Amino acid sequence: MRDEFLEPRVTSDGEEALEAGLRPRHLDEFVGQRELKEHLSIVLEAARRRDQAVDHLLFAGPPGLGKTTLATIVAAEMGVGLHVTSGPALERAGDLAAILTKLGERDVLFVDEIHRLSRSVEEILYPAMEDFQLDIVVGKGPAASSIRLTLPPFTLVGATTRTGMITGPLRDRFGLVARLEYYESDELQAIVTRAAGILDVRIDTDGAWEIARRSRGTPRIANRLLRRVRDYAEVRGDGTIDATTARDGLSVFGVDERGLDKADRAVLTALCQQFRGGPVGLSTLAIAVGEQTETVEDVYEPFLIQLGLIARTPRGRVAMPAAFDHLGLIPPKRPDDQPGLFG
Ligand SMILES: Nc1ncnc2c1ncn2[C@@H]1O[C@H](COP(=O)(O)OP(=O)(O)O)[C@@H](O)[C@H]1O
Ligand SMILES: [Mg+2]
Repeated sequence: MRDEFLEPRVTSDGEEALEAGLRPRHLDEFVGQRELKEHLSIVLEAARRRDQAVDHLLFAGPPGLGKTTLATIVAAEMGVGLHVTSGPALERAGDLAAILTKLGERDVLFVDEIHRLSRSVEEILYPAMEDFQLDIVVGKGPAASSIRLTLPPFTLVGATTRTGMITGPLRDRFGLVARLEYYESDELQAIVTRAAGILDVRIDTDGAWEIARRSRGTPRIANRLLRRVRDYAEVRGDGTIDATTARDGLSVFGVDERGLDKADRAVLTALCQQFRGGPVGLSTLAIAVGEQTETVEDVYEPFLIQLGLIARTPRGRVAMPAAFDHLGLIPPKRPDDQPGLFG
């Protein structure tokens, strides 16, 4: 059940271009994630002083929190080349070998969705990460032989929405594993204000705050809501965004008080009404709202869980009392053998 007004949550090509323009290029422009930034700046500075490639880095966290941005920042801060690929794009060992052999000294290789690498690709990645060695098999059958290439030292930056799906051996080969957290509203306010400056949109602090606090803790969503409110302000007003314009614009586009949009509410409604609060299995829930299981799990659920609206249990997803509250529904009576949640 896609939202008709907001772009799909999965980044489309058009949004990719818009995002590129809003991406901070240096670490000090990157808002929030204080601890992560501190760790990263130490790692970068140490590499600079030793005149070496930066250690391999893994960024984990929900979509839209800044993983790709950080990869581009690492390359920019170190003044090296950036090569971009993703787990699903590297189907065969040869695909990875082709990229690795193009790397320049200390370049950054960014592998998005690294949890989706195939086993065979992962296996040639290990010696490449550890010893900058690449083993390539040439020829077939009995005539096949293996040659070993030495690669220039490089930095692998991996991004994943699923730390749990990264294999132990792969994870161990990263020098720094950093988790990105959802942003606070005041940080998102700073991000909205910065983006408005780049997009040449007039916005006051209250307008930026209204957008920020309904952005699900996510910079990508903050920037997206800013663009929708800008449209609204241009068409219905004089183009300036204040608190009233922001509030009205967001409600026109179906974003509610807590920042949930129609798709989020569809998940909650299915869980609360159709499944009477659960527990219900993830795939059943996904089918009910017409989404891929992975989308429900990676995109919708994390923030609904963070808001305390739903919970994951061994028996499936359950709606918390706050979810019924939010939708203005009354929780169903539970039989006595299911104590706890609504007791
Ligand atoms: N800390 C931040 N400060 C400013 N803008 C940010 C920050 N994190 C993300 N953004 C913005 O949000 C958008 C999405 O970030 P991105 O790095 O593509 O997220 P991810 O790769 O984690 O899905 C980018 O356009 C970027 O401009
Ligand atoms: Mg990304």
